[in-house]
Amino acid sequence: MMFDIGIRNGRIGTASDVTMCDIGIADGRIAMLGEALPPGREEIDATGLYVLPGGIDSHVHLSQPSGDGIVMADDFESGTLSALHGGNTTILPFCLQQKGSTLREALTGYHALAEGNCYTDVSFHLIVTDPTPSVLGQEIPALVEDGYTSLKVFMTYEGLRLRDDEILSTLDAAKTSGALVMVHCENEDAIRFLIGKHEEAGRVAPPAHATTRPIAAEREATHRALSLAEIVDVPIVIVHVSNREAMEEIARARQRGAKVVGETCPQYLMLTADDLDREGWEGAKFVCSPPPRDKASQIACWEGLEQGIFDLYSSDHCPFRFDDPEGKLNSRGKTSFRWIPNGIPGVETRLPILFSEGVMKGRIDLPRFAALTATNHAKLYGLYPQKGVIAVGSDADLVLWDPTETRRLTNEYLHHGADYTPYEGLEVTGWPVTVILNGVVAVDQGALKLKRGAGRYLPRRRSALVGARPDGGL
Ligand code: URP
Ligand code: ZN
Ligand code: ZN
Ligand code: ZN
Repeated sequence: MMFDIGIRNGRIGTASDVTMCDIGIADGRIAMLGEALPPGREEIDATGLYVLPGGIDSHVHLSQPSGDGIVMADDFESGTLSALHGGNTTILPFCLQQKGSTLREALTGYHALAEGNCYTDVSFHLIVTDPTPSVLGQEIPALVEDGYTSLKVFMTYEGLRLRDDEILSTLDAAKTSGALVMVHCENEDAIRFLIGKHEEAGRVAPPAHATTRPIAAEREATHRALSLAEIVDVPIVIVHVSNREAMEEIARARQRGAKVVGETCPQYLMLTADDLDREGWEGAKFVCSPPPRDKASQIACWEGLEQGIFDLYSSDHCPFRFDDPEGKLNSRGKTSFRWIPNGIPGVETRLPILFSEGVMKGRIDLPRFAALTATNHAKLYGLYPQKGVIAVGSDADLVLWDPTETRRLTNEYLHHGADYTPYEGLEVTGWPVTVILNGVVAVDQGALKLKRGAGRYLPRRRSALVGARPDGGL
């Protein structure tokens, strides 16, 4: 017999352990693990490299429409290309329901954008903005059956956010159908109140974005979302947690027996609100919600990753161009922070940042890295064990990391459509030098080997958390 690809002499890291062995790949899957395996038509020598599961980024925004002519910097082509170069083989972008439209209508449009354009595998979450009785009673159960098994709801953003009664009925529909709900937790009324105060006082520069979205607004909404989920008795995911107080709400809910998963993102480990204060409106580059906080919050988020409050580390890639009338510096965005589109790019830098700052600096080990960047995403969102693990029978989605390669992150070398990276100049050690997608070498030493459209759409099963361990863990 002969494998399609043989990978030799690598150090294999999974969420459970690190071993030295060879990998045989056939027909897009991992066919054999062991020593002295038969030859492959293509042989890869992974001496000195770590072989890890392909990254799964379960929080990505691509081609998401906004009402006011603002255009996202990435579509499926550039967004998945950027993801791939950053060591990801699967991403989960959000399909946004428009008010007055159905979820199916949103999906039809979103699939059309993705079809034939992807460089990674993709699967969609649905953002529910208009939870009508038919959406809740008919659409969601049918969509779960069709493999759309996760929903996001917003507690902030006028026009998108749901009221508490709407969140309750969405959670209830999720419970009945077996969908998993992700919640963006910030108190919109408190933020509106503070925005009014700031504008009255003429404080309109980018730093006001952070002061009008304080930790208390996130903590309160986190507590409320957790309480609503407990009332319905259904698991939830608290996405993009930025600080200790929100983390403590998650820990307390778990102590009460609630099934809750927390997610944090690179921006909460690496940026602070001071970045919003850079000269010449450049702070707009760092406007995202929740906003980056302070040094103490960064330390807290690292603790959350180390100690298991967070099971997920995602990018929340939500790219806008900076110097562009359709981006951060749109005509209104130049007049007040409140019109600067929310979101920052990060799908390509997510893994190198955690590898360098986490693994190489000894904060987390390789198994924890694999869990936080791939395995837990697969388990939580119904892709395991097809994805997220190096095991016989799983899709051959692999990334070879060179732990000795040091690079300075700079926008010039990234593949996204944004004209900046928030991490410009950051030195990272460890780089994803080779990426294998479904048994095909997709990136080799930085060179793209894959054709656009090679990425597939993945229907998903129900979450492992729906009926999972009572302590809420994965
Ligand atoms: O500012 C952010 N995070 N924009 C993306 C949308 C969201 O809230 O996740
Ligand atoms: Zn074959
Ligand atoms: Zn959000
Ligand atoms: Zn997001």
